[in-house]
Amino acid sequence: MSRRILEEELRKRSVFRDPSVLFSDYIPPVLVHRDDEFRWLAQVFRPLLASLTSQRALIVGDIGVGKTVLAYKFGTELKELAREKKIQLDYLHLNCRKDKTVFAICAKLVQHYNPRWPYHGLGPEKLLDMVVTHLQVHDKYLLLTLDEIDYFVNLNGPDLLFFLSRAAEEKGLKNRISILGIAHDRRFLDKLDSPTRSTFMHNMLVLEGYGAQELMDIMEQRIELAFRPGAVDPETVELIADIAARWGNARLALELLWRAGLVADNYGSETVLPEHAREAKSEVYPEIRRDVLADLQLHEKLALLAVVRRLKSSGQAYVFTGEVKNTYRIVCEEYGEKPRGVTQFWSYLQRLRALGLVMLKPSGPGHRGQSTRIAIPDVPLSWLEKEVAKSLKRRAS
Ligand SMILES: Nc1ncnc2c1ncn2[C@@H]1O[C@H](COP(=O)(O)OP(=O)(O)O)[C@@H](O)[C@H]1O
Ligand SMILES: [Mg+2]
Repeated sequence: MSRRILEEELRKRSVFRDPSVLFSDYIPPVLVHRDDEFRWLAQVFRPLLASLTSQRALIVGDIGVGKTVLAYKFGTELKELAREKKIQLDYLHLNCRKDKTVFAICAKLVQHYNPRWPYHGLGPEKLLDMVVTHLQVHDKYLLLTLDEIDYFVNLNGPDLLFFLSRAAEEKGLKNRISILGIAHDRRFLDKLDSPTRSTFMHNMLVLEGYGAQELMDIMEQRIELAFRPGAVDPETVELIADIAARWGNARLALELLWRAGLVADNYGSETVLPEHAREAKSEVYPEIRRDVLADLQLHEKLALLAVVRRLKSSGQAYVFTGEVKNTYRIVCEEYGEKPRGVTQFWSYLQRLRALGLVMLKPSGPGHRGQSTRIAIPDVPLSWLEKEVAKSLKRRAS
């Protein structure tokens, strides 16, 4: 019986050839529409190969605009080119959301060079010291990408970057470690010491979101590999591109494509149709992703919760920001936080808007400031309230 079900399922035709090509850890053979940005990186890191001097740069941009894949492509190709030039340059891409502490990052570095080195019980500075010595003795260089560095600095402060820039200097050695930071929110720069901050600010690449046409090209590149020939209706691609273009988000486009394929398979359809994309869309709330919520700062979360509560209790689609401000005070009290002033409150709303969490609508002429209206267009409020409250609680515990 169960065997029959299994066989039946395996015999079913699928629209997919290889869905894993659509997952976010897949690295595409070429990047589409990022030549200028790639060239910018090449210019910044040129001295690394030309005169063996270390460099630092920062990539910033919203979720899904290709920060990670751009850095990875650049780093691996630079390494390749260095090898041809007989320069021993390594590329290491660490995600600071996975390696959350200064120790974890330093331990990764040590392990990268020698998995057998003992590192337990040693402090981060000692660990870096081992790495620096190793680079010097073997005449090696390293390009280190610290992905989601804003998250890391907000959590741990600036020590890691400070240690990294001082480690070689303190031993009177040349700095052989170059750093490529990736951040979603550039405000972490305020927490850095001023030399480090200004280096990053002078070498900062802001990645803009993709337009619908660009997203279509990115999808076309994957469709060939991911789906059987002709399995995706061109209109489906167009519709998904239009949805994801609202946030310029390629990750969302590829995720919707994948989910639409699953829906098509589920209905036993030979082609992925627009209706499947719509159904896929209803499964994700791209407007509000958990990783975006997790990244918000405390008072931004409190302000968002206030918007949700206010909308809920009013039962209306739009509420005035002045009303939300009152609710914000109550929410702050509930969480034992001191409410911030109007200017700051306004900046929280602006940021929530920039992240696509809320919509702000100035009222007609004759109204000012307080009379801006606010809405949450795409997501059930009950879902959002639960998610925000959860992430606030996590913080408290
Ligand atoms: N220019 C591009 N060409 C091809 N694929 C891309 C491009 N930009 C982004 N992608 C793909 O979109 C997804 C999201 O990109 P990612 O680098 O993870 O974004 P971010 O790090 O900015 O959140 C990944 O699957 C990535 O491979
Ligand atoms: Mg990324």
